[in-house]
Amino acid sequence: MKGLVLAGGSGTRLRPITFTSAKQLVPVANKPILFYGLEQLRDAGVVDVGIVVGDTAADIEAAVGDGSAFGLQVTYLRQEAPLGLAHAVLTAADFLGDDDFVMFLGDNLIEGGLGDLVAAFERDRPAAQLLLKRVPDPDRFGVAVLGADGTIERLVEKPADPPSDLALVGVYLFTSAIVDASRRIVPSARGELEITDAIQRLVDDGLPVRASQVSGWWLDTGKKDELLDANRVVLSTVIRRVEGEVDAASTITGEVVIEAGAVVAGSVVRGPAVIAAGTRIVDSYVGPFTSIDRGCVVERSEVEFSVLMPGCHLRDVRRLEGSLLGRDVRVVRGTRRPSAHRLLLGDHSDVELAEGS
Ligand code: TTP
Repeated sequence: MKGLVLAGGSGTRLRPITFTSAKQLVPVANKPILFYGLEQLRDAGVVDVGIVVGDTAADIEAAVGDGSAFGLQVTYLRQEAPLGLAHAVLTAADFLGDDDFVMFLGDNLIEGGLGDLVAAFERDRPAAQLLLKRVPDPDRFGVAVLGADGTIERLVEKPADPPSDLALVGVYLFTSAIVDASRRIVPSARGELEITDAIQRLVDDGLPVRASQVSGWWLDTGKKDELLDANRVVLSTVIRRVEGEVDAASTITGEVVIEAGAVVAGSVVRGPAVIAAGTRIVDSYVGPFTSIDRGCVVERSEVEFSVLMPGCHLRDVRRLEGSLLGRDVRVVRGTRRPSAHRLLLGDHSDVELAEGS
């Protein structure tokens, strides 16, 4: 069994973060999203992993290397353009050969491991085994229609009028039949080779396509609010570990990780929250569901339900919520006159000012 992790794509919905880095490397609880999937593959005994990469190949390769840090053997597969998930499968055709594989979308997170799923697939070897989850907004996903016997009858990609609320979760198990099926489909209206169309081919060929529903959480992190929600869910699982320096004037409440090399002074930190090494929190409040990565400075500020990537600086900011800050972002209150907001924002930045500010 091989692994195929999709870490290409254009990430337009997460601009401007994705102008300068891969969306799969945005941190959730201070760890790149991609790493969770790689660890789950390893834990399921899948060692030989191909990673499909696009324009952000250098970034992904720098972060994952040859995979040995994860106990994996990684092969990078360059996709010339983000032409769809089935196109990514075709890009990987030589790497996959005749082997079975588990395909994992690099910006998805699922609760629990892949072990049971991989074991069940290896036992029964259907042409495809899909994971489904009931969602309130099926028009945003690939959607499955099940027959009376629970097998897949039909799949539709992002339907305007969803025939069911069962969305395809970003983990799929396939035999090599999917490679051949992907060769026999044409691009969809949005110009992509859709994996749903390729799987539909397997169904039409009379091959067994099975589905099971995930009971735990499944998080698709393609947009800011989804990412913050993923951060909230993953932080809910952290266990208190305070190894950094915390002075007597500070209060740390609940499940909080303060890594060795972090400093908290004169501040209140309410978990769940994680504060990485090399970060300083001074005379500030860090509220629930906040991840602050390495080398940040937060002074005389209040922040909660947010993700700060490495090197951010907050000074005299009251108060930041529901925010995703990229690397080395600086948000400070100025004292210059006239009193005004002074912004230097990249393309597609998004600023929401508090009422009355
Ligand atoms: P999507 O989130 O569906 O697509 P995208 O990354 O292009 O994002 P956006 O819609 O915001 O522009 O992709 C799901 C995952 O699959 C993601 O990790 C990127 C990856 N992917 C590829 O590797 N190759 C592809 O051709 C596509 C479409 C996605």
